[in-house]
Amino acid sequence: MTAGGGEAPRAAVLTVSSSRAGGSGEPDESGERLAEFARALGAEVVARELVPDERERIEARLRAWADEERCDLVLTTGGTGLSPSDVTPEATRAVLHREAAGIAEAMRAASRDHTPHWMLSRGMAGTRGATLIVNFPGNPKAIAEAGEPLAATLPHALALLRGGR
Ligand code: MTE
Repeated sequence: MTAGGGEAPRAAVLTVSSSRAGGSGEPDESGERLAEFARALGAEVVARELVPDERERIEARLRAWADEERCDLVLTTGGTGLSPSDVTPEATRAVLHREAAGIAEAMRAASRDHTPHWMLSRGMAGTRGATLIVNFPGNPKAIAEAGEPLAATLPHALALLRGGR
């Protein structure tokens, strides 16, 4: 993917899961698939982390990757649903400067073909400075399912954002 500046976009991947962050021993398959998704788009994955479902921890990571690491793209997986511990959308909303509702809507629309529970993801998308942040559901198979419509438009989105870098 070329995002206008010639260099590969810098991507970061955040897995939000209290059980995995607590050392449950389960592999972070969604984070791995999300990193593969970013690489397939031509991005370089410069950072990956696993945090529990805690607003402050999620917000701090998103702010650091956008403001300090100057990532072009930050992808998260997990914590978007309706269980009391799910706070990824709230954390994301708190750090976004502008919401890009169409991206989240497209991800939910694409998920309709795969699960009747597609509507339970409250995932958000938007920008903080020149960084695009996108929430994915936590299920490993949701990465390809919900990400499918993004592949065609992310290069253009990142090129537009780089214009403001
Ligand atoms: N979307 C896709 N494409 N595939 C999925 O498996 N799971 C759904 C929904 N969206 C799913 C999906 C389910 S069961 C839930 S509870 C919500 O995403 C929120 O998931 P999360 O809390 O792990 O983020």
